[in-house]
Amino acid sequence: MSRSRLAARPQWQALERHAARTGELHLRELFATDPRRGEKLIAQAVGLYLDYSKQRIDADTLALLHDLAVACGLPQRIEAMFRGERINVTENRAVLHVALRAPAGEKILLDGHDVVADVHAVLERMAEFAGKVRSGAWLGYTGKRIRNVISIGIGGSDLGPVMAYEALRHYSQRDMNFRFVSNVDGTDFVEATRDLDAAETLFIICSKTFTTLETLTNAHAARAWFLNATGNEQAIAKHFVAVSTNAVEVRKFGIDTAHMFGFWDWVGGRYSMESAIGLSTMIAIGADRFGEMLAGFHAMDEHFRHTPLQQNLPVLMGLLAIWNNNFLDAATVAVLPYEQYLKRFPAYLQQLTMESNGKHVTLDSAEVDYATAPVYWGEPGTNGQHSFYQLIHQGTRIGPCDFIGFCQPLNPLGDQHDLDQHDLLMANLIAQGEALAFGRTTAEVRAAGTDAALAPHRTFAGNRPSNTIIAEKLTPHALGTLIALYEHSVFVQGIIWDIDSFDQWGVELGKQLAQATIAELSAKEEPKLAHDSSTNALIRRYRRLRGGSNPGSGA
Ligand code: F6P
Repeated sequence: MSRSRLAARPQWQALERHAARTGELHLRELFATDPRRGEKLIAQAVGLYLDYSKQRIDADTLALLHDLAVACGLPQRIEAMFRGERINVTENRAVLHVALRAPAGEKILLDGHDVVADVHAVLERMAEFAGKVRSGAWLGYTGKRIRNVISIGIGGSDLGPVMAYEALRHYSQRDMNFRFVSNVDGTDFVEATRDLDAAETLFIICSKTFTTLETLTNAHAARAWFLNATGNEQAIAKHFVAVSTNAVEVRKFGIDTAHMFGFWDWVGGRYSMESAIGLSTMIAIGADRFGEMLAGFHAMDEHFRHTPLQQNLPVLMGLLAIWNNNFLDAATVAVLPYEQYLKRFPAYLQQLTMESNGKHVTLDSAEVDYATAPVYWGEPGTNGQHSFYQLIHQGTRIGPCDFIGFCQPLNPLGDQHDLDQHDLLMANLIAQGEALAFGRTTAEVRAAGTDAALAPHRTFAGNRPSNTIIAEKLTPHALGTLIALYEHSVFVQGIIWDIDSFDQWGVELGKQLAQATIAELSAKEEPKLAHDSSTNALIRRYRRLRGGSNPGSGA
């Protein structure tokens, strides 16, 4: 069988040979041979410091990865994105999230039209509205201030806003509540609203298409909840706003388009948190801080566009991810922020990375013969250390890690000289990378007095790769740089893998099948089922029990 375009490249095959040659090299040796490795294999830009010295690479690895990137046309593809070419080929769309954070006055033309001017027109409307809600100038229908903001959306219309709110909660308006409803499970909506006064509550319905089943269902639930509490149809105008690209559907739902904040089809859902989808973020932190976040994104965009590949942070991150995934056979990446405010960052990255690069065909519609996106997962440190880190340290698979930390705490606790809690946190971050890389040999364990039988259990093989990303402090600007770092790294990987990182056909089949199943679950008459025997049996069982009969009665 002939190999794919990527696997047939001499540069790819050179990496395969290199991996076979260097596969057994241990980080202990690499650091011993070059005592300054930890100062050399780093890159820094726009406030982020990336230490990749604990990756299992030597000088040749990086050069070979660089050759591959050039052969795949990485520099040209980066330019194509920034120039607004339709690089999302299966949807025939430009990919211009970089325009969302371009400063006013910059021009990015799409079909001859300057999209940056459109972006800033919406940002101004958002700032005006957010300012009114924050100051109390925008009042609910009874004249009460808005105290609660509920953002309803799912996927990219939810994960970005929740993550950003949690990440920047420190800077948020503390006399307001911000809640997020995404799941079609009624519990999500009921729990988010149960203690709220409708007269003080603003709903932001976020949906790029405004046709997504979960979001529309929850939006209708919100409308019913609001009308039930207020009995006042006219009041909806003061309590519901929409964020969408689809004015027709917004109007159909009953929201005046004067209260709609738009964006465009060239913004992918998972790349939309700094568009109007971020309206809840702007209400929480204010327009100025939102602007600082956009400036952070833009700083990384500029770095990505203009920095040579060898010092380019997203390029390095992307190429190292390729190395681990395709040449060291690592099927996962753990994202481990040592910052409690980033607790939803791994969930956000899951959509960004896996919806973008979880693909099985190339841009030419050929089946790939190499692995594409690994599974991303993670939890904030130090919590994970007391649960899944056991596997990362001593399990039989390697699981590359991204450690993320900040040098200054937002909530200092403890005595600066004695027990500074932030020092404790960061000591753990640094120690984990060290332990993973260098491990502990059986000889070292024995020398420390462990008996022969127990020694293997206390041995750590080491040689487990990680990146460490350090910034000064979690600010809106730093958050912008960090997200853009991952966005562009995902793009780099997609280019190498020769796939469309900006479509998401994989979510369609389940949606379609669910539509058919809904009718079968709720039909009055026993439906004629034509699925496989498992699906049929599950539908029958659910139908039998949905009214509350005895669960022990058998299928
Ligand atoms: O089903 C996947 C998806 O299309 C995501 O790509 C998107 O972020 C999410 O659904 C929500 O879509 P929308 O913003 O159109 O409601």
